[in-house]
Amino acid sequence: MKSVALVTGGAKRLGREMACMLANAGYDIALHYRSSKSAAHEVRTEIERIGRRCFCVRGDLKDPEFYPQCIDTVTKTLGAISLLINNASIFEKIPFEDSGQKTFNDYFDVHVRAPFFLSQAYALTGAKGAIINILDSGADRYGQEAFVYTLSKKSLKELTLMLAKTLAPNIRVNGICPGPILPPADADRHYLNAVAENTPMKQPGNVNDILSALHYLMQSDYVNGEILYVDGGQRLM
Ligand SMILES: NC(=O)c1ccc[n+]([C@@H]2O[C@H](COP(=O)([O-])OP(=O)(O)OC[C@H]3O[C@@H](n4cnc5c(N)ncnc54)[C@H](OP(=O)(O)O)[C@@H]3O)[C@@H](O)[C@H]2O)c1
Repeated sequence: MKSVALVTGGAKRLGREMACMLANAGYDIALHYRSSKSAAHEVRTEIERIGRRCFCVRGDLKDPEFYPQCIDTVTKTLGAISLLINNASIFEKIPFEDSGQKTFNDYFDVHVRAPFFLSQAYALTGAKGAIINILDSGADRYGQEAFVYTLSKKSLKELTLMLAKTLAPNIRVNGICPGPILPPADADRHYLNAVAENTPMKQPGNVNDILSALHYLMQSDYVNGEILYVDGGQRLM
């Protein structure tokens, strides 16, 4: 059977790695991006070299009109979606007192509203398949450095569990909670190592740890409503 995966924020970093891994596993890829056009096209070239189709779909996940359009265009171009990965994200350390309406809306748009309505539009196509939401180890903690980021990832975790109940048996819904894997775009390896020092494993994870979790979830047909922590135990601190 033909397999089609839609990866949001797939042009760079973890999204790019997941898209290429899925292409190697036989999926055609709908690669969503917002501003990283040339990076997205590079990934498309790489995926086509692997021998799979890749369709780049551009859109801002803060635009509500984009959600049904995205699912519709991908389905018409590549066929029924069998895997949706809600990966796109924003991250800044903004404390509670500095978190205004815009910050609140931006984080909830990208981390909650977009996964909610993409999942709804996907489910309404009647396709069978799976959704994997990329969360954060912080979804289980009460860190205050990035207040709305953490709150929105907590909400995405709850959405994951509610959808697992609601969309089964047609669509399985699971989550992956990364810990320190890649430094934020504006930080370096020293930052990552310092964060990782405060985890039980005392070192960062690597991209392959996330890909192993994805591989497990995508092929495990009876796993639904599971949250896989790939965080070296960071959530326990
Ligand atoms: N990196 C880590 O170690 C780590 C740790 C914990 C959790 N995570 C989670 O793992 C996932 C991937 O992490 P990452 O660091 O690879 O992600 P990232 O680089 O921070 O973001 C991925 C993509 O999200 C897209 N995006 C942001 N705002 C958007 C918007 N309004 N509309 C559409 N797309 C938007 C961007 O696309 P464009 O570039 O095209 O604009 C960006 O390239 C995220 O969900 C993150 O929260 C990562």
